[in-house]
Amino acid sequence: MTLTASVDSTLTRISAGTEPGAACSPDLVEKPWVFDLRPPSYGPGSSMGDVIPTGSPRQGALPAFYREADAAELDRRIRAAKEALGNRLVILGHFYQRDEVLAYADYVGDSFQLATAARERSDAEAIVFCGVHFMAETADLLSTEEQSVILPNLAAGCSMADMANIDQVEECWEQLAELYGTEPDADGRVPVIPVTYMNSSAALKGFCGRNGGIVCTSSNAQTVLEWAFERGQRVLFFPDQHLGRNTAKAMGVPLELMPMWNPNKPFGGNDASALEDSRVILWHGFCSVHKRFTVDQIAKARTEFPDVRVLVHPECPMPVVDAADASGSTDYIRKAIEAAPAGSTFAIGTEINLVQRLAAEHPEHTIFCLDPVICPCSTMYRIHPGYLAWVLDALLEGQVLNQITVSDDVALPARIALERMLAARPPIADGA
Ligand code: 13P
Ligand code: SF4
Repeated sequence: MTLTASVDSTLTRISAGTEPGAACSPDLVEKPWVFDLRPPSYGPGSSMGDVIPTGSPRQGALPAFYREADAAELDRRIRAAKEALGNRLVILGHFYQRDEVLAYADYVGDSFQLATAARERSDAEAIVFCGVHFMAETADLLSTEEQSVILPNLAAGCSMADMANIDQVEECWEQLAELYGTEPDADGRVPVIPVTYMNSSAALKGFCGRNGGIVCTSSNAQTVLEWAFERGQRVLFFPDQHLGRNTAKAMGVPLELMPMWNPNKPFGGNDASALEDSRVILWHGFCSVHKRFTVDQIAKARTEFPDVRVLVHPECPMPVVDAADASGSTDYIRKAIEAAPAGSTFAIGTEINLVQRLAAEHPEHTIFCLDPVICPCSTMYRIHPGYLAWVLDALLEGQVLNQITVSDDVALPARIALERMLAARPPIADGA
């Protein structure tokens, strides 16, 4: 594989037959606006087989000018808008974004770092979030009323976040209250503390705020679970079963005390005693990007490179995390590579845009993705410089397009849950 950070250009070369390799969908060489006009779906990539909920936000047709403009024209427009808007604008970019977008980001980071950046840049009138919907919602929650948060493509959701909705969680909560009551035990610990992963809708963050709960990210999940166990006899963790299971297991919680909650079954598909004895109730959600990594891929990497260090994201299934050398957030993976002596070999289990960028930034190491098939996050893929140029040109004209606003009734409790998380800092050195 050519050492370039751009997954898009690798996909183009594979599709043209000038580079060996495989992609999970031939559609990945299409421009994302093609999918805005097709029936609702997550788009090509890891989540393409996931069922998208009805009513998910959709992106209307991108104006023809931006669809037809070449890369040089889009680059000229984006740079001109950034120059003209100066500090009135801040562009945030998640590590999983395509390189062609991150070239314009003022901050590049994981979801925790970008949430912090949104809070700190209260001087910027507009926060353009090159990430996914729940990240933009979080930026809106943590920014001031005067600021606008913009998601360049409204179809950039997150299939995992969509796996738990507020009605299902309220229903689950009622059933748990029926079973446990609401009275604290002799140590003052309530029966259940709800913990939502950052990858969830603002409504779920609000639910946690209203019910004594908290938000976590992959970089502070253990700190947050400790916070929750001080206050509750058990935790209801949603939507990612894998982050919940991997984190609680590392803290010594036995697997048999972690029943899974299937929202389509009464009592989540559990008998009362399993729920009574539980320490962590895991929601039946997962990330389709991280579900692709397997123990067999790790075994193959170890056979081919006996000195390989395997680093994976905690959204991977438990057997994969157990077989890896370490697990941690995207920023943890980045820092572990930076700290390694030259000549190290890394096999990485996280989204391909980040892995390929790390490989290009660190020619002194050998870095490759555990999954040999290129299969990016379908929803991060939906952002492209064409949309960025479109929303920035509009800002120059004083128009705010694609604004993400969380209503006050949700925002007030959601901020409480987020502030509890921010106060539970600093993140621990996860999994290393
Ligand atoms: P981080 O919290 O590590 O940025 O991960 C976000 C995400 O969406 C992972 O799939
Ligand atoms: Fe959601 Fe997974 Fe994409 Fe992260 S990588 S945004 S969890 S689908």
